[in-house]
Amino acid sequence: MRRRLFAANWKMHHGPGAARSFLGTFLEQYARRTDRDVWFFPPAISFTTVLDLVRGRPDLGAGVQNVHWEPKGAFTGEISVPMLVEAGANGAIVGHSERRHGFGETDEESGNKARALLAAGLVPVFCVGEKLEEREAGETWAVVRRQLNVLDGLPTRQLAQLVVAYEPVWAIGTGRNATPADAAEVHRSIRGWFEKQGVNPDDVTVPYGGSVNLRNGADLLAEPEIDGVLVGGASLDPTGWAQLISLR
Ligand code: PGA
Repeated sequence: MRRRLFAANWKMHHGPGAARSFLGTFLEQYARRTDRDVWFFPPAISFTTVLDLVRGRPDLGAGVQNVHWEPKGAFTGEISVPMLVEAGANGAIVGHSERRHGFGETDEESGNKARALLAAGLVPVFCVGEKLEEREAGETWAVVRRQLNVLDGLPTRQLAQLVVAYEPVWAIGTGRNATPADAAEVHRSIRGWFEKQGVNPDDVTVPYGGSVNLRNGADLLAEPEIDGVLVGGASLDPTGWAQLISLR
């Protein structure tokens, strides 16, 4: 059975103090469940605080929301994969739509970031998804395939380490979300892409993201194609998050 990943993308919320207080409450309320991993992606400045507090719990992990592909150099504001390895990160979010569409991150840059993480044995949570006008024009799969194609040719051993989060851009932070059936169709196509690369599609974890919350989470997670969720807004409250990740 595929493992489930519940990932909290805190975006630009929770500095170190708020992160410590979140974890204090969360750890009291969430008992380990062996069929799922729970990873936190706090702002980089809160990362070591989170990691120190989840260390010792094999089901919990932490990463960052963005990373540079070069190992070091004059890249003001960036952090590198070797730094993440040294700090003990599980991985990093790559190609989030807010990076792609708000900060102009290109497909190629997302690919470079994923490659650098995979080469170091870390997990990219690689986000793909179409904008509303692209969905309405029937271009959903063409867009997602184009976003995946930058990973073309990677060794199957590395490809199998990827987490691909399907996050339709129109569903992020909007309160709208794809129906479980809509999401499942794209998830199936994503697995098909990996199969064509020679990867066992059941080795690839494909969570869904976009306005997932306590009301819609159970229906989404009941869909066998959906291997977990990547959650922004509903991951910010420790009690709500502990409940959300205990669904099904
Ligand atoms: P949201 O964000 O749950 O607030 O829609 C999800 C994401 O951007 O990863």
